[in-house]
Amino acid sequence: MDKMVNIAILGSTGSIGRSCLEVIEKLSHRFRVLGLAAGRNTGLLEKQVERFKPEIVSVERKEEAEALKEKFKGSSLRVTYSQEGAEEVAGLNENDTVVSAITGISGLRPTLAALKAGKKIALANKESMVVAGPLIQKKVREFGSQIIPVDSEHSGVFQCLAKEKLENVRKVILTASGGPFFRSSSQEMMNITPEEALNHPRWKMGRKVTIDSATLMNKGLELIEARWLFGLEPGKLGMLIHPQSIVHSLVEMNDGSVLAQLSPTDMKIPIQYALTYPERENALLPSLDLTQVRSLEFFEPDMDKFPLLKLARLALEEGASLPVALNAANEVAVASFLKKEISFVEIAEVVSEAVESHKKREISDLDDIFSVDRETRLMTQNIIKKRT
Ligand SMILES: NC(=O)c1ccc[n+]([C@@H]2O[C@H](COP(=O)([O-])OP(=O)(O)OC[C@H]3O[C@@H](n4cnc5c(N)ncnc54)[C@H](OP(=O)(O)O)[C@@H]3O)[C@@H](O)[C@H]2O)c1
Repeated sequence: MDKMVNIAILGSTGSIGRSCLEVIEKLSHRFRVLGLAAGRNTGLLEKQVERFKPEIVSVERKEEAEALKEKFKGSSLRVTYSQEGAEEVAGLNENDTVVSAITGISGLRPTLAALKAGKKIALANKESMVVAGPLIQKKVREFGSQIIPVDSEHSGVFQCLAKEKLENVRKVILTASGGPFFRSSSQEMMNITPEEALNHPRWKMGRKVTIDSATLMNKGLELIEARWLFGLEPGKLGMLIHPQSIVHSLVEMNDGSVLAQLSPTDMKIPIQYALTYPERENALLPSLDLTQVRSLEFFEPDMDKFPLLKLARLALEEGASLPVALNAANEVAVASFLKKEISFVEIAEVVSEAVESHKKREISDLDDIFSVDRETRLMTQNIIKKRT
């Protein structure tokens, strides 16, 4: 029998983390959960510990870690907490694969810990790649680790490129469902509530990425992620709105062939592929029935209605500290919208103001990244304060 693959999941209580555990449960002959890292949802984490029996868990804060220790007193479970805790889970010696699915820049240090330990990483946390793409790629080379994308669009590109030479790629196109407001007028977008923005037509995801999908910032972040994941120049990266979310990406080759990856709209498919790569396992889902889908539509995005996409494109082209500032301002603005402090259209206004005020500089290490991140968060909070 093949050796069992040991897995650690960072962000196990989130949407990706839960789907990942579903995949592992079905493939329990191949995979064993060694570590779990979560934030504050200890109720769910407890259930995951009981079901998957990891050796170590990490949570965000000490108080929750103490409660978990008490709950599992007498067992061999190790409980740790904070960023260092998540880094410990990521870097465990016996781990083979780390699923990086913490939201936002909080996922960066644990992802780097996994890279430095030479692990195979199933990467969902796109913000890490956005803020630290060049640094991450340097660490991949230095420590011989490997990144397999989990984002459905990047998984699609990865599969299309499997047997291709990068120099023969003319264009990579990521698709976007368009979110819930693709067909709304600018007037209708003035009064969008968090509840409406959280009601995504195609995907069930965490709150932050769902709002990013509604503003189309998610696609902007994904373009930057693709630049570093695949080593593609910004001019070769594009996107199209595809409301059916069946074609996840398109790769146009220099001979005019266009390769596409299609699959049902379910994150368990790219998650399973990332875990089993380079092998494949039987699907857990029914086959894609194109006679049911019937039509596959594609549209150019409306950059005026979704200005964050334009801003992300600028950050993609300019690079240096701009993607870090963009990501920080967006994280703050989205959290503020979810707390009903600013309106939906103000997310783009606030992020634009913060990015325009940012003085671009070179990024050479992690300290530079966190310094730009801190500075931009503060600036964005002040911009929001002035409005509210
Ligand atoms: N959901 C999707 O379909 C999808 C698709 C492609 C890519 N992604 C990317 O995958 C990542 C995760 O997305 P998601 O939808 O799964 O988000 P989510 O449902 O909000 O889950 C986020 C996870 O991160 C944990 N977390 C948050 N802050 C933390 C911290 N400071 N320390 C430790 N853990 C922390 C949360 O813990 P608690 O809940 O316990 O607090 C939760 O387990 C994002 O970067 C997203 O862009 C998601």
